[in-house]
Amino acid sequence: MINISQNEFSKRRNQLSKYIDNGILILPGNKSFVRNHDVNYDFRQNSDFWYLSGFNEPNSILIILFKPEIEYIMFVEPYDVHHHIWEGYRAGIEGAKNTFKANKSYPISEIQNILPEIMSEYDDIYYRIGSDDIVDEIITSFYSTQLRQVTGKRGNYNINSNLNHGSVSIIDPIPFISNLRMIKSENEIKLIDEAINITSKGFNHIHSILDTSMTEYDVQVEIEYLFRKNGSRYNAYPSIVAGGKNACVLHYIDNNQNLNKADFLLIDAGAEFEYYASDITRTYKVSKDIHSLKLEAYNIVLDAQQNAIKSVRPGKTLKDIHKTALDILIDGLKDLKFLDASYQDIIENNLYSEYYMHGTSHWLGLDVHDSSPYTINKADVILEPGMIFTVEPGLYFSSRSSFTTHNKNLEGTGIRIEDNILVTKDGYRNMSDQIKY
Ligand code: GLY
Ligand code: MN
Ligand code: MN
Repeated sequence: MINISQNEFSKRRNQLSKYIDNGILILPGNKSFVRNHDVNYDFRQNSDFWYLSGFNEPNSILIILFKPEIEYIMFVEPYDVHHHIWEGYRAGIEGAKNTFKANKSYPISEIQNILPEIMSEYDDIYYRIGSDDIVDEIITSFYSTQLRQVTGKRGNYNINSNLNHGSVSIIDPIPFISNLRMIKSENEIKLIDEAINITSKGFNHIHSILDTSMTEYDVQVEIEYLFRKNGSRYNAYPSIVAGGKNACVLHYIDNNQNLNKADFLLIDAGAEFEYYASDITRTYKVSKDIHSLKLEAYNIVLDAQQNAIKSVRPGKTLKDIHKTALDILIDGLKDLKFLDASYQDIIENNLYSEYYMHGTSHWLGLDVHDSSPYTINKADVILEPGMIFTVEPGLYFSSRSSFTTHNKNLEGTGIRIEDNILVTKDGYRNMSDQIKY
């Protein structure tokens, strides 16, 4: 069984001291949301909160103090017999310490009494304003008290243009956590490998059974059945199962149409495993009865995708990978007579964007679009071993586009091919090449 150990969660918390010296970090987890009446939506922990705690219960807040030494405090829902009977076990105050390695833990209902006192020892508060109503309120009131000491209060205002507006800073910690999340550990790589392995079972099954009698919904059900059966409780995102022209809607999730023998079927789906995502797209022909121009367009996308993948190595940037794919797509669009301007004109005026309107890559991890930065201090992030991202060029010939008579045969065709790529010391590993193209 692969999972992230409490040691690894603790190491992650400690690594934040690269960015935070003498401050307090306050990070709320997700709450549970009502679906209807007394039924809640499935709970999914906030990814940053999970990354630092491995704690899967709603309505919790974690605190890290960085001075005099790193101290980890959890505010959680206490163990409750009634809750245990109706909904299940909770780790509670003791479990937060014993299992989740908090140095101290308190009931979440005590946060208004306890947090202000802890906070009063610190000038730098690392908290994303707006992430929790109660913490927002605590911080606003704490900050106003600090300010009042500077500006005075009713009866005595200190009127002076040089007033120092207090020493308290409120700093968003999410960029630091996002930055840590960019390089994956050995265990994280294993978990993403497993998510992809599960996803491969679904796709390879569809590849072998796809025929014209199936609907988009049938395909979705088959693929997601294999995700569930092989150990993935949740999809990393809603599956896109798009026949023919539906593939021109990039995030099509209706998945309720029949398939047509002369069309492609685009499937963009990924299992989540132990909180880690996979994100795979394949475009399969529904039958052999498909126009040769569609196959030509498919081969252009495949060529762009495979060459972009081959260009991955440390030292490059995601912009470089995008350019490799884009240049091949542009050449292909010229061959297909969709573009006839000069390369410079095409690039400067984004003439390709009618047929290719999204990026080639995004980070992948706990979130399907992982939250790590693409530029830091305005400079493109340079690829390093341990980074994981997608390579997913596509071509979309929507009926919204202006077609020439020559290429009417492509109208209503959407093609995308997507793999998940790990940067290694010497280059890359395509983590998903076992999934049939
Ligand atoms: N599945 C969404 C994406 O490929 O970005
Ligand atoms: Mn995708
Ligand atoms: Mn993607």
